[in-house]
Amino acid sequence: MEVAKRVEVIIKDPQESCVVMSGCGTSGRLAFLISSGSNKALSQLNQSEVYSYIIAGGDRALLSSQEAPEDDPRLGVLSLKKVCEGKKRVLFIGISCGLSAPFVAGQLDFCLQHPEVYTPVLVGFNPAHQARDEPIQDCTFTFHSVVQRMQELAKSQKAFLINPAVGPEAISGSSRMKGGSATKILLEVAFSAAHAATSSNTPITHNGVLQHMMAYERTLAVTYSQTDGITTLVEAAGESLRCSRHVYYLGWGSLALLGLIDASECRPTFGADYEDVRGFIRGGYRELNNNDGPLTSLGPKFSIAHEDFLHLILPCLTDKDTVLLIYTHSDDATEVGNMARRVREKTPNLHAVYHQADGDTAASLQQDDIKKLCLSTLKITWPQEALVSGTLQHMRELSTKLVLNAVSTGAHVLKGKIYQNHMIDLQVTNTKLYRRATRLLQKLSACPEEKCEEALLKAIYRVDMLTLEMTSSDITTHTCFARNSTKVVPLALVILLTGWSLVEAESHLKQQPIVREAVAQWMW
Ligand code: F6P
Repeated sequence: MEVAKRVEVIIKDPQESCVVMSGCGTSGRLAFLISSGSNKALSQLNQSEVYSYIIAGGDRALLSSQEAPEDDPRLGVLSLKKVCEGKKRVLFIGISCGLSAPFVAGQLDFCLQHPEVYTPVLVGFNPAHQARDEPIQDCTFTFHSVVQRMQELAKSQKAFLINPAVGPEAISGSSRMKGGSATKILLEVAFSAAHAATSSNTPITHNGVLQHMMAYERTLAVTYSQTDGITTLVEAAGESLRCSRHVYYLGWGSLALLGLIDASECRPTFGADYEDVRGFIRGGYRELNNNDGPLTSLGPKFSIAHEDFLHLILPCLTDKDTVLLIYTHSDDATEVGNMARRVREKTPNLHAVYHQADGDTAASLQQDDIKKLCLSTLKITWPQEALVSGTLQHMRELSTKLVLNAVSTGAHVLKGKIYQNHMIDLQVTNTKLYRRATRLLQKLSACPEEKCEEALLKAIYRVDMLTLEMTSSDITTHTCFARNSTKVVPLALVILLTGWSLVEAESHLKQQPIVREAVAQWMW
């Protein structure tokens, strides 16, 4: 409520003040999603836009994995200064689910040094004492020490810490799931409360906040009551990935953005190729409306419009690929139908996630035609009262996020990318992921840390004998090199468990491409 009150003050003074959200990976992508949605909501209230976003690695990180910039606190400060130029009052919201990203720590530290302009808010899902305490290169602070300073200032409401416990992620380290959803819920609740107070000229109330939170609770119930439909989608996507084919999300409006976000996370989380799970949005960059505009010149993975799908993907589509339409009753049903027909000419493996309002019969007639073209349709029906309360968009987005997180995670579980509840094929592309990989190797091999790091380096550099140059390089150098290496952690684990050479381990993994099975063979 206190943060919402600060937002309300900023909305009343849009010339001189702003709200900036910043994060890395999915935390930055959600900052983008929430800032676009909240700016649209303000426009509908005839208010000026006040929200902006920062993502480590810039706009290309909205769609692709860019983990290295997460380690750079100076980059964080530079991007913050740029966004806030000329502003006299800034509410800065740093998002780091694990309370760990140096990029965000640098920004929070900068805010703490300039209290006359900046009020820092930290959103994350670890207890404060578990914030990362690892030294950050060329810095006198750690994430943990920044949190401690914020805790002190929080007593006088000069800083805010929003870090409820949401419990462990189902897949260890996958903060994009629960952590991402909780980020979306918390910030939207705070911002919506501020919007409601501004438009009705009434104070923010505890009850208003609570009602909005309960709408999200209903979203979970409505979405997870559809387990059979979700299972069908997971199985279809899993089957596609198992035979090295692809999963495509074709979405409309902000739900399409959730498809883009979900797809972009598969690379760092599961060591997936960008082609494995891809998202497309109707209207492409025009609809996305990101800071840097179209990014298509950066390469094929930045082609995100439906037209791109039709030109680049459709001609090679087979029945082993899974295509998922994601839309609502307010989207153009003729357009959805046309897309469904085009896809159906190539593959019957077409599915839909469709959000409708309770009692919307006009929409359901056209929907029937689309349904006939799809192998399965996950129909999510929202009660009429959600339309009235104005939270419908938030509910549909969260619901879509939950479904897509289940689809991509479940499909990668079926592909064998998870051992027990660990992602065993993660990318090792920043210090956090490097440390996580080392810990994972220790846990699974029971070998000492030193030996695990040695195996990890062999897998990164693809050598049996590490040179002095390799062993004396810093983690940043290792993680830069690891950007071009695949199956690093599985390879290191096989080396540790079997004592094989790199070449032997590589050939074993080639024969058994299901990483979990390749690893499980040597576990017991
Ligand atoms: O380092 C990559 C990554 O793990 C992403 O996969 C994730 O979305 C991001 O970091 C965010 O982590 P946090 O919110 O804890 O800073």
